[in-house]
Parts: sequence; structure tokens; C-alpha cells
Amino acid sequence: MLKLGVNIDHVATVREARYRGRGRGEPDPVAAAQLCEAAGCHGITAHLREDRRHIQDRDIWKLREVVKTRLNLEMANAPEIVEIALKLKPNFVCLVPERRQEVTTEGGLDVVAAEKSLTETRKKMNDAGIEVSLFIAPDERQIEASARAGAQFIELHTGTFAESFSESAIRHPPSANELRRLIAGAQRAFSLGLKVNAGHGLNCVNLPALFAVPHLVELNIGHSIVSRAVFVGMETAVQEMLAVMKGYRG
Ligand code: PXP
Repeated sequence: MLKLGVNIDHVATVREARYRGRGRGEPDPVAAAQLCEAAGCHGITAHLREDRRHIQDRDIWKLREVVKTRLNLEMANAPEIVEIALKLKPNFVCLVPERRQEVTTEGGLDVVAAEKSLTETRKKMNDAGIEVSLFIAPDERQIEASARAGAQFIELHTGTFAESFSESAIRHPPSANELRRLIAGAQRAFSLGLKVNAGHGLNCVNLPALFAVPHLVELNIGHSIVSRAVFVGMETAVQEMLAVMKGYRG
């Protein structure tokens, strides 16, 4: 069954818009995570950014205490954050680019350019019992470099697919090319023994088209769920997404 990791960063984005630097405030991303779990999600994802734009240190420590499913920490491959992750011991880390020079033209992590340092971090995480995912574009060179780096997972960047998707795209899909790349990328990763996640920009409208991509283990979805929750509440928003995901045949 395709799993759902809910990214709760944007709950913290709303809190920080009013309470930045105050060490308190609403809405609380930790309470949101608990509602997501009550609704049946399979994991909670949070990104502790170097600039602490949304999630704060106290959030991730509290999440580590209360999350009963699995905690996935999104993070840059930066010494300060690596140190925090090794102490926090989330179930997974997903290494993502935060700086311009770490990004490929398509927005994923440039594993080819940073293979050595990503391999070192991957080893440290695995030695601490933490599984590692690399957030990459569906590019064969990046996929092969991820396998060489010893990652357990890749997370395919679906941003380009999501961007190119619109109502008219249902009739004349400009996303077809990108979809083909995602399909080929998932197949290549699977053949190399990598487990395949996907995320960025996914919502209830574009998701069914993504189901053409084989071998998906987990989707990480944030913005569309948090946006929908403003109108229907977190639990219903998560349940709606889970209902759409039941259509995935693998
Ligand atoms: N996966 C990764 C690696 C991300 O960086 C993000 C965005 O924080 C997401 C998934 C979720 O993207 P969205 O908020 O667009 O659903």
C-alpha cells in the first residue's frame, strides 16, 4: 500500500507569520502531527531548515517524543543539522538542497557533485540507525549517484510534474514528458535496489496522473493538505488524500 507522510512545515509557517522568535504560538505543528496520525497517515515529515523559517528546534524534539508512526526529518547536508539529526534519531532523514550550489537545474539535490560528502553523511546516519533518502530529480545520473552513495531511498522531485499540471493538462497533458521521466527514473532506481518515494507540489487533482509511476513506496505531501485543512480540518484533509491514494496500483 502506498504510504502517506504528511509534511507539517506549513503549519509552522502560519505560526511563525505571527509569533516569529517568541518560542510559542498557534497553530502548533506538533498538535497537527497528532491529528494527522489520528487520521491514518503513515508518517510525519518536518524540515528543520538552517534559517529556521518554519519548523523550530523545539518542534522537532517534541515531534520525536509524540510521533507514533515514523518521523522523517528533511534536512540540508550541513554540519549543524547533521549533528542535530544524529542526536534526534528520526526514523528517516531526507537530504534536500537548501543552497543554490547544491541544486541541479531541475531543483533536486546534485548528488553527482556532492557524492563524497553525501556518502559520508549517509554512513553516519546509517550507523546511528537512521535510514537515508535523497531528494532528486528523475535524472539517471543522479539516481545512479544516489545508489553509489548507498542511500536506502530516493525521493523523486515531482515539482516539475506538478507545475506543468493544470485543468487543461488533463486534455493535453504538458506533464506527459515529465511523467515519462518519473516512470523511467522509478524503474531505474528500483533496478538499482533503491526504494522510491516522491513529493513536492502533489495534490488531490494531480495525484491520479502520478499513479502511472511504478514502485512508489511513500508520498510526502504538505502544502495541499495544510491548505485544505484550513477549510475542512486536518483529519478530514488527510483522510481525503488517503482516499485518493487508494487508487495507486504500484
Ligand atoms: N518532499 C520534499 C523533499 C520537500 O522538500 C517538500 C517541500 O517541503 C515536500 C516533499 C512537500 O511538498 P509540498 O509542500 O509541495 O507538498
